[in-house]
Amino acid sequence: MPRLRPEAISPTAHYTGTVWLQHGLSHPAFATLRGQALYYALKAPLAASSLFGGPTLEGFLLARHRLIDMQLEQAIESGEISQVIEIAAGLSPRGWRFAERYRERITYIEADLPDMAACKRKLLVDGGLDSEHHHICTVNALLDDGPGSLRELVQGLDPTRGLAIITEGLINYFDTEAVLAMWQRFAGVLSGFSHGLYLSDLHVRSVNDGVTTRAFMDMLSTFVRGRVHLHFDSETEACEEMLHAGFSQGQLLDPRSFAASVPDCRRAGAGLVRVVVARTGR
Ligand SMILES: C[S@@+](CC[C@H](N)C(=O)[O-])C[C@H]1O[C@@H](n2cnc3c(N)ncnc32)[C@H](O)[C@@H]1O
Repeated sequence: MPRLRPEAISPTAHYTGTVWLQHGLSHPAFATLRGQALYYALKAPLAASSLFGGPTLEGFLLARHRLIDMQLEQAIESGEISQVIEIAAGLSPRGWRFAERYRERITYIEADLPDMAACKRKLLVDGGLDSEHHHICTVNALLDDGPGSLRELVQGLDPTRGLAIITEGLINYFDTEAVLAMWQRFAGVLSGFSHGLYLSDLHVRSVNDGVTTRAFMDMLSTFVRGRVHLHFDSETEACEEMLHAGFSQGQLLDPRSFAASVPDCRRAGAGLVRVVVARTGR
């Protein structure tokens, strides 16, 4: 059993893990003391933002999570996708939920940096939630190849079946150069499969430049102990960069367009985030 070093695990993964739990999306097995402590410590400052009609952190987290779920569900139901790699999965319950629901119809791989992956594996096994079509692996999204790279991880997958790559809560912590390199890496890997789908959240400058929103983003940067990067000036620019990275299609979904069917997409702050839906192949 690898030695766990919780201090090396991103605090944000503990925080979002608690958000998913608080909103009935997760399993108590994924609860951590650290996540609960952060969640309650941030409750008051975050509530202040909503008092003035500002966005809420939980609002955009839940909107992005539900919209990614919905896109993945549609791709699985249509038969396009039967293999999933969720990079930077942290304490997200999605892998467990989809593995429970689709069982042998899918292979779901959650992948994260070594400490986080070890922590997640332990929680999953201790909670009795592991299953044979759900795996927890180590990956570093910044590596092109070699041990710990995505390229190495996909070696065991079936290229005749569709593959989805998901990143949630990852790319806005990296600068533009790193994100473009990641997108190229993802498109390159996905193009080796019968269908390739990439789903992610993204914050774009043009929808995050109001005074309240900027203050909110500053607060978020303080919380994650690093800058939250807004890579693209506009949604058009972001979509163009997806094509330059090697995707054949790229679009951004505004959660508010799904408000009628997805209640969490009606929350204050839902409009701050976009969901990337990019494909390789035809
Ligand atoms: C904000 S958390 C998001 C967790 C989860 N996706 C969610 O939405 O609840 C960020 C995650 O990114 C992971 N991470 C950071 N750098 C990474 C990298 N280079 N490769 C893979 N994962 C990384 C962290 O370990 C952490 O689990």
